[in-house]
Amino acid sequence: MSETVKFSYGGKDFELPIIEGTENEKAIDIAKLRAQTGLITIDPGFKNTGSTTSSITFLDGELGVLRYRGYNIEELAEKSTFLEVAYLLIYGNLPTQSQYEKFTREITTHTLVHEDIKKILEGFPSNAHPMGVLSSLICSQTAFYPDSLNPNRSEDQLTLSIVRLIAKMPTFAAWAYKNKMGHPVNYPDNSLDYCSNFLNMMFALPVEKYEVDPIVAKALDSLLILHADHEQNCSTSTVRLVGSSQASVYASISAGINALWGPLHGGANQSVIEMLEAIKADGGDAKKYLDKAKDKNDPFRLMGFGHRVYKNFDPRAKIIKKAADDVLGKLGVSDPVLDIAKELEYAALNDQYFVERNLYPNVDFYSGIIYRALGIPTDMFTVLFAMGRLPGWIAQWKEMRHNGEPIGRPRQIYTGAVDRNYIPMNKRG
Ligand code: CMC
Repeated sequence: MSETVKFSYGGKDFELPIIEGTENEKAIDIAKLRAQTGLITIDPGFKNTGSTTSSITFLDGELGVLRYRGYNIEELAEKSTFLEVAYLLIYGNLPTQSQYEKFTREITTHTLVHEDIKKILEGFPSNAHPMGVLSSLICSQTAFYPDSLNPNRSEDQLTLSIVRLIAKMPTFAAWAYKNKMGHPVNYPDNSLDYCSNFLNMMFALPVEKYEVDPIVAKALDSLLILHADHEQNCSTSTVRLVGSSQASVYASISAGINALWGPLHGGANQSVIEMLEAIKADGGDAKKYLDKAKDKNDPFRLMGFGHRVYKNFDPRAKIIKKAADDVLGKLGVSDPVLDIAKELEYAALNDQYFVERNLYPNVDFYSGIIYRALGIPTDMFTVLFAMGRLPGWIAQWKEMRHNGEPIGRPRQIYTGAVDRNYIPMNKRG
């Protein structure tokens, strides 16, 4: 007999099933709760609500564990490549040599974007934030590939849309940056690997030669792996929710990019560097900013600290902190902001307020420092997060579809005015 939860309400006894995942996580299955009792549950921010069962990513926030399809993030970051991880997330298993070559070849074939994209780009003012440009360009693919509008059309069509997304994402991202700089765009170079091609499109100029530094390309590839999926976070839940209405994969991913943009989610990587710069400009007093973060009357938060699910070190932050030292060392870059970050981290980890609330550095705390060392401008940081998260969004969107999940439609408890009669304007007090 499987486990159940028993409770009484309104003088009657009820029993709800418990479901259990492969890592022994348990949940009360409330699917029949309203039908049986008339009650719904309320959980702002979905802090205790599981929206789905999923076989893509496992994380244990108490132990600081993160695995994609069963593989530890530490091992993938060290031994794998971003495209291999993308394949793993989307198709469930590590590819064989021939599967990997086919996947890479298909992605390389589709890096070019429609020439009319340049016209759309020209319509954006040059101060447009690249995240807004990126989400618009991704959504514009619904117009260039109308066959993709119906996600149920065919598996082949869906596979093609997925390949196009991964292939064109670096082109759109680099072009969003070029628009901002007012520089001519660079076309993809299919002789280069995924990250080198992106870096070349970002930094090559008609007036000077640009050679991709393999250290930079490798560091970027590892960062993309670390960002590739993170189960049911804000942007991923957005992608699944939008997709649940059977909107196209391009529209769903574009919505995910917008959700990621906010400073409490992926936008935190930009906010962290802005915060560290502000601390530096203000004399480098980490304690002053720690006090501000603790002051409940001050809206300031320590950006890059805290996480909804990690109540221990974010394993990605651990890897990135070490990588920051390595990458800056290899590139011979010294960044005073890294010292401020370390000082702030040390102070926070030894402060009662942060200790009591289990607030640790998250993935965004050190990633911006590496991006800066790689020459990436601050407002492109979240774009790189989106590039990394893309395979995760796709895998989650695909899983939602294959599970046949119903349209996402939460309920509410209404707290507004009760039934009122309309009063003509000339009679309103
Ligand atoms: N600085 C100061 N206090 C904080 C912080 C912070 N960064 N984060 C949480 N707290 C406090 C918060 O005020 C609350 O205190 P109290 O119990 O006294 O009211 C307590 O810790 C719990 O915080 P919460 O806001 O209820 O937690 P949450 O799960 O709703 O929010 C969070 C999680 C990530 C939005 C939040 O920690 C935060 O705003 N962090 C800064 C932004 C950031 O770095 N975001 C990136 C997250 S990682 C990348 C990603 O995957 O999105």
